[in-house]
Amino acid sequence: MQLSPLQSRLAASVVASCIVLAIYLFLFSPQFAFAAELSTTPFSSVLPGWMPGLDEAPTIGDGSGEAKMTAEEIESRAPPTYEPEFGLFDRTVMGRAPSGVITLTNNAPKNTNIDPGTLTSFVFEAKSVAGRGDELGNNNPLELRSDVHKGAQGSTGSENADENSEIKRRQSPTKTLWISGNTCIQPERVPDQTTLDPPQLTLYVSTSKDNTTPGPMADKKKQDVLVFNEGAVMYNTTLGGDDVYFTIAGPPKVASDAFATTTYNVNVAASIDKSYFSYDADSEPNVFWVDSDSGATLMASGELKPTESDPALEKPPYTMFVFKEGDMAMNGVRNSYCGLKEYSLIGGTRSRMPADMMITRMAKRGTESITKQEFFLSGLNSSTHYTAVLASDPSAAPGRKRADDNVPGGGGFVFRQTPFQTSEPGGSCYLIQNLAFCDQTQYRVPGNKDKFANATVLGKFYDDYAKEMYDNFDKALQQVQCDAPSTSRYSLARNCNDCKEAYKNWLCTVSIPRCEEFSNNATWLQMRNIGAPFPDGQTAMDPNIIATFGKQKAYTGSRLPRIDEEVAPGPYKEVLPCDYLCYDIVQSCASSMGFSCPLPGKLNFNVSYGQRNETSGNTEVTCNYPGSAHYKSGAAPVLSSWSGMLLPVLLGGILRLVL
Ligand SMILES: *[C@@H]1O[C@H](CO)[C@@H](O)[C@H](O)[C@H]1NC(C)=O
Ligand SMILES: *[C@@H]1O[C@H](CO)[C@@H](O)[C@H](O)[C@H]1NC(C)=O
Repeated sequence: MQLSPLQSRLAASVVASCIVLAIYLFLFSPQFAFAAELSTTPFSSVLPGWMPGLDEAPTIGDGSGEAKMTAEEIESRAPPTYEPEFGLFDRTVMGRAPSGVITLTNNAPKNTNIDPGTLTSFVFEAKSVAGRGDELGNNNPLELRSDVHKGAQGSTGSENADENSEIKRRQSPTKTLWISGNTCIQPERVPDQTTLDPPQLTLYVSTSKDNTTPGPMADKKKQDVLVFNEGAVMYNTTLGGDDVYFTIAGPPKVASDAFATTTYNVNVAASIDKSYFSYDADSEPNVFWVDSDSGATLMASGELKPTESDPALEKPPYTMFVFKEGDMAMNGVRNSYCGLKEYSLIGGTRSRMPADMMITRMAKRGTESITKQEFFLSGLNSSTHYTAVLASDPSAAPGRKRADDNVPGGGGFVFRQTPFQTSEPGGSCYLIQNLAFCDQTQYRVPGNKDKFANATVLGKFYDDYAKEMYDNFDKALQQVQCDAPSTSRYSLARNCNDCKEAYKNWLCTVSIPRCEEFSNNATWLQMRNIGAPFPDGQTAMDPNIIATFGKQKAYTGSRLPRIDEEVAPGPYKEVLPCDYLCYDIVQSCASSMGFSCPLPGKLNFNVSYGQRNETSGNTEVTCNYPGSAHYKSGAAPVLSSWSGMLLPVLLGGILRLVL
């Protein structure tokens, strides 16, 4: 509508008069401002709780955290007739709505401080995403209805305006709005206080147009209430044409004798794409404990799949946080990405642990060469239980920078916690990993700290030895007709590459024994080296064990004499290689090479090979195989397929498989 010059001038003077009037009311007659209580103006610039007689007017929040009132302020500003009934919150603690509302836009997180007895309110305006999703709504039959109404548009009556907004609401295709939050900082215990955890924050979401100020004092029927779960909250609702109001409230109070600080800091975001901050405390942790010794641990993520932004799987998508099991500093933030980042022992910003304690890398492991992200932790304490939490790291996502946070799910995803532990000190077993040749070998091996300065040197010893034996085998393999046409090859189904791979898998597993400390009494373990002294110089071997097994070579030595000669470990127990690794060689290599395997129950089978225990959800490594970890690998060959083919060919072969 065009205004004539006269109308414009009138409009300008009316506006100016209004401003003058507003200033007058503000400065001299605050009692008139009470009229705002009765106004129907939406909760934006009007302060519904503002009472006459106050020296200073409450301010509108700008998102930086100051949009708050103390409990006393809230109390003093509540209208005298207002008698709230809210079970959890004492009337003396919580008053009415906050003084300002922070506007959130799609996938743009806000950080704010919240004190006990205060709340911060947010609004997600439907119009901020009105354009979004219209592609879907173009053929919406409701559009016809809106055209009909447009024709009738003429007056500017408020009734008509309401109708128009109603049409608008119906017009926009239904979207889901996700509201999510993460507690980054919470009240800190006073020293030695172990009984009280900091209370959690609470999210109030108004699902009703009549409640634009959700919170502890609002009508319970017109809002949803969600208490944060270990520092995280996720909520979703249907986004129609109405704005969605929500509030994060601190607890009514935080006991000052139990907590040295009381302020919370929280990240909040709204999104129509997906939850910006997410956690899953119930499903797979997506990180597996591969193995530990007394001071180091290797963890590996689940299988990684190529993505559009990282087709070659080169960039680590995850970060990991580690803390001591039961660490009370973690109570209350275990599902919060920024909370974990703040408080974790390893990976946390407050920690004084050296940054190189955790090394991460992308690696292809397992028989199917699956890409995983690995985390190698060193410098851990012995005999300690730890908790690891994998999280997707938005800043590390391929092609992204920290500043570029406003993407769907940019706040990160926190997976379920997974426990692991380090072994006792002074043992015989050392974790080796990331070897050059035996690239699947990542577990504890018999070691000796007097002979090998560290696990890297020890790993190299074993790896070089395995490589040496493999080179001998490779020479022998050249005698076999590998590249011959299939008619003259030794097998139609298998070729020399299969043979090489099977041999390598087997060789790395048998020549690098998987070690468990002697004190481990699991039934599937094979005692080795029982005649040697324990490395701690104190423990004595049980005389009954010497009496029973002291004369059997399988117990008094290691699998390979060279281990006893050059490593000279203390007594240890071996997780025997899985039997199918042996059968695989027999099946894959030319029979002229003379490979054979012992049969279960025959020869030396029981002291040479183990069998996988696939029953009853067993997560123990009952036999050693490439890529094995403290979990059941989905990539395992099916054992039953081997039955019926165990026919050892004894032709006096080059290499003995029964070691
Ligand atoms: C919305 O939240 C409910 C729990 O309140 C959950 O079961 C559901 O999966 C969520 N929906 C989406 C699309 O995230
Ligand atoms: C090891 O123990 C000491 C003493 O209890 C502790 O201060 C340190 O944080 C621990 N380190 C790790 C990595 O657990």
